[in-house]
Amino acid sequence: MHKAPRGTFDILPEEHSYWKYVEEKAALLCQLYGYQPLTMPIFEDARLFTRAVGGNTDIVDKEMYVFQDKGGQELALRPEGTAPVCRAYLEHGFYNLTQPVKLYYLGPAFRYERPQAGRYRQHHQFGFEALGEADPVMDAEVIEMAWRFFLSLGLSGVHIQLNSIGCKLCRPGYLDVLKEHYSGHADSLCPDCKGRSVRNPLRLLDCKKDHCKGTAETAPKATDYLCDDCQSHFETVRVYLGTLDIPFHLDHRLVRGLDYYTRTVFEVEPQEQGGQSSLGGGGRYDDLIEALGGRPTPAVGFATGLERIVLNLKRQGVDVPPLPSPVAFIACLGQEAKLEAVKLASELRKAGLGTVMATGDRSLKAQMRQADSANSSYTIILGAEEVRNQSAVLRNMGSGEQQTVPLAELIRVLKSR
Ligand code: HAM
Repeated sequence: MHKAPRGTFDILPEEHSYWKYVEEKAALLCQLYGYQPLTMPIFEDARLFTRAVGGNTDIVDKEMYVFQDKGGQELALRPEGTAPVCRAYLEHGFYNLTQPVKLYYLGPAFRYERPQAGRYRQHHQFGFEALGEADPVMDAEVIEMAWRFFLSLGLSGVHIQLNSIGCKLCRPGYLDVLKEHYSGHADSLCPDCKGRSVRNPLRLLDCKKDHCKGTAETAPKATDYLCDDCQSHFETVRVYLGTLDIPFHLDHRLVRGLDYYTRTVFEVEPQEQGGQSSLGGGGRYDDLIEALGGRPTPAVGFATGLERIVLNLKRQGVDVPPLPSPVAFIACLGQEAKLEAVKLASELRKAGLGTVMATGDRSLKAQMRQADSANSSYTIILGAEEVRNQSAVLRNMGSGEQQTVPLAELIRVLKSR
C-alpha cells in the first residue's frame, strides 16, 4: 500500500474549510494593502537559492530537495518564496515599474526537515514582498500587515519579536565582537555552534541548546553596533509601530535562518509556544536583488506557513465557516425519471444552483442516505408519475417538509429560498 511520503500529508476535504478560510483572508489582506498576486514555478535553478538564501544555511546545506532533470540542469524544489519573487522581479523588468512593487504568493515549499507537529517536508507559504523601497514606513507596513492578518483570522495572543541586524557596513564589526565573545566559550559550545562560529556566526545566537542559549543571552547585541543609518532606520520603524499601536518585543537573539536579511528582522509567535512555534517571519533584504544581478534594490517582506496557522486555529477553537454544500440532491426512480434527472441537474447547475445527482440504480431509501451525506439543503425526488406530470417532489432536508413543484418552477422556487 502506498503512503504519502514522510513529512507530507493529504489535505482532506473536511480540512479544506480551514484552508479556504485562511486563503480568503490572505487575498483580502493583500487587496487592502495593494499587493498583486504572483505565482512562481515550484522548482527553480538550484543556484538561485544557494546565492540568495546562502550555502551555509541549514535550508540550503541540509534541507533542499535538489535534483538533475533529464537535460542535466540542477534544479531545486523551492524551499521558500522570496528568492523566486526577486528572480521574477528581475526577469520581468519590474524595476522599470513605479516602486515599490508589491507582490504576494501562496503555494507549497519543500524542506527536508525532521517531521513533527508544525514541521513538514512540504508546507505551504503565504508571503508578501515590497520591492524597491527603503523607507522604514514600508517595514512598519509589512509588520502591521502580518499582525492584522493573524488578528483577522481570529487568533489571539499572537506576538511580534523584532530586531535589527544591520547592513553590510556595520555587520562585519558586530560579527567580530560576537566571535570574540564566543571564543571565550569555545569549549562549551555544542558541535553545531562550533561549526557556526566559523561558517555563520550570526546563527550562534539562534541555538536552541540550553547551554548555548546562556552564551547567546550574554552576547553583545547587534543593535548596539549599528551604523548611524541603520540605527535611525530601526528607530523610525519602532516609532511607526508605536503610532500604529502594534505591540512588539525587542529580541536581540532574533537573527532568522536565511542569509539575505539586512536591518529589520521579525517573527510572529503564537500564544502557545512549542519547538516549531513561529507562525511567520520576515524582514528587510536590501542586498538580495543586487546579489542576483540587479541594481541595488531595497526590499522587505514576510511569509507564514499555512499548516501552522491551521494548527493554531484548531488549538484556539476558532470557528471557520463550513464549505458550501449543494443546494439540491436529485433522487430518481426508473429509467424515464433518470433521463429527466440528468436534464434537470444540468439546468440547475446552469442556473448556479449546486446539484448532486444520484447515480447507479439504488433504492429510494439508499438514495436518501446519499442525499444526507451530500449535505444538500433540498432533495428533489423524481418518479414515473412526476415525469408524467412534469413535476417533482421537493423535500426540505432541514424540516422534512415536502411539496410538489412543477419542473418549470423549480429554479425559481429554489432561488427564492
Ligand atoms: P521562514 O521563517 O524560513 O522564512 O519560513 C516562513 C514560515 O514558513 C515559517 O514561519 C513557518 O510558519 C513556515 N515554515 C517554514 N518551514 C516549515 C516547515 N518545514 N513546515 C511547516 N511550516 C514551515 C522564509 O521562508 C522567508 N522567505 C520569509 C520572508 C519573506 N522574508 C522576507 N520575505
